[in-house]
Amino acid sequence: MTKGKHLTSIRREDPETIRALLDLAASLKTQILSGKSVTAKQPKVIGLLFFEGSTRTRVSFERAAFYLGHRVTNFSNAGSSMSKGETLRDTILTLKHELLDAIVIRHPSCGSPELVADLFERPVINAGDGEHEHPTQALGDALTILEAKGSIEGLTVCIVGDIMHSRVARSIAWLLSKLGANVRFVGPRTLMPSNCSLLPGVAVEGLQDGLAGADVVMCLRLQRERMEQGLLSSIGEYRSQYQVNRAALKHAHPECIVMHPGPMNRGVELDDPTADGPNSVILKQVENCVYARTAVLEWLLTGAGQKTATAGAKR
Ligand code: CP
Repeated sequence: MTKGKHLTSIRREDPETIRALLDLAASLKTQILSGKSVTAKQPKVIGLLFFEGSTRTRVSFERAAFYLGHRVTNFSNAGSSMSKGETLRDTILTLKHELLDAIVIRHPSCGSPELVADLFERPVINAGDGEHEHPTQALGDALTILEAKGSIEGLTVCIVGDIMHSRVARSIAWLLSKLGANVRFVGPRTLMPSNCSLLPGVAVEGLQDGLAGADVVMCLRLQRERMEQGLLSSIGEYRSQYQVNRAALKHAHPECIVMHPGPMNRGVELDDPTADGPNSVILKQVENCVYARTAVLEWLLTGAGQKTATAGAKR
């Protein structure tokens, strides 16, 4: 059991905490965009530990820390003593005794942020652990849905693609179902988790049925780096059966929003007109993840956002 306050998964968090974080993110967004300072009274030093590639998550945590007046120190396998064989455990204990105030970690192993939280004993944020969870992406995506739809309760959300390897799918499905949305999963059988029944949603056969009346369509990246040979017969076949494009979207709600956490395989998970079209909120997701991460840092480092929450509920 991890000590102290961390954000290692959405599944562990209760709906009130999630709503409070979304309220805080929305409030910080308003303040930041209107030019108000949100700088913390006590600047902290945050370690950004990225053991897998990242553009959005790493840069947005840097941006979030900048807004709050904190400093970051970047850390990866290459260039650190881990490249000389030092273990993750000894690395975390070293950073603890170098008095970092918080750690943000992306790592290919599921559960590694919880191991780090046990050792570090100060706030730890999961920035994506293997196929497990990506909680701050889910918060940024939920903020984007709230802005577009006004509430989350009662929405029909169709998550399309490589469900098996997707930490994004797990985190957003938990978040949305905790706030009362109906979640559907659609994808090739070979890319559906064998324990799909444990996920908070229903597996639907075929893109057309999955999209029927959907308010939110979330495309997932095909994670070829995590796939064993043979899971997908061909990209062309995937494209013909599961690509989200204009023809497919005719089955969804006419005012549906189209999401993708990025990075996209353009022309595979969705076509260019869909990625760049009027229903797409993909770049809003990128921006809102900055505010969501700002909120998570505030919540963990200062205890902000512990008040009554309203986000996600029908208004
Ligand atoms: N969505 C996401 O996690 O993107 P990055 O891998 O670029 O951080």
